[in-house]
Amino acid sequence: MNDFHRAEMADQELADAMDKLVIVKSAIYTSGERDPREPPPRQDTTGRLHLMGHDPRLPKMPDKPTLFDFFRLRFGPAAHMLQSARLALNNGCDEKVILACLLHDCSAAGFIRADHGYWAAQLIAPYVDEEVAFAVRYHQVLRFYPDESFGYKYPDSYVRLFGPEYKPEPYLDRAYEHCRNHRWYRTARLLTVNDLYSFDPNVHVELEEFTDIVGRNFRQPPEGLGFDDSSSAHMWRTINWPTRYL
Ligand SMILES: [Fe+2]
Ligand SMILES: [Fe+2]
Repeated sequence: MNDFHRAEMADQELADAMDKLVIVKSAIYTSGERDPREPPPRQDTTGRLHLMGHDPRLPKMPDKPTLFDFFRLRFGPAAHMLQSARLALNNGCDEKVILACLLHDCSAAGFIRADHGYWAAQLIAPYVDEEVAFAVRYHQVLRFYPDESFGYKYPDSYVRLFGPEYKPEPYLDRAYEHCRNHRWYRTARLLTVNDLYSFDPNVHVELEEFTDIVGRNFRQPPEGLGFDDSSSAHMWRTINWPTRYL
């Protein structure tokens, strides 16, 4: 069997699996494209079961997925996080900052964009030092507020993305004040300093460069992320199986 036939068979298997299953999207995936108050579009469900596990359109995760499995199989292009982590490494930051850089946008990459710092902090909180989760949570906030003592300016990219008139919401002002007066402000600020917003498409960074730092600073559960009954296990399971009916 040649590659062409193998690809054809895989396509056929996927089509067969799809025929047998009803796969729906959560309201959060479609809200805005459609009015969430309206009933979801009707599907013909006769003779089909609702998906309650792996989505056949996605690469299958191992039974005990690690953080790196999520990077490889569920997060979008991670070059930005990897390059930020390498920058922090080259700048001589400590391992907490390097790890925070490696993880900081994992929610935007694989889960939910809105309030991505908060979601990412919640995802990683059971597995990292509290200070790392704090930095990840507040990087989203601090990005809007310059601090010249760290050489951090309001990003030009934000002017392009959001327009010159954009003002952060009041909850961000309050969160900024809280962070500014916190003992871990420096850690969160160092994350924003190393959070590259114009990354170089020609620089390639391998995940393996951070194997040791992750090994020392991320408490990978032996049962696999999502199956360890931690306070964020359900969130990792949702990333693994994003279209389960319940
Ligand atoms: Fe971010
Ligand atoms: Fe970032």
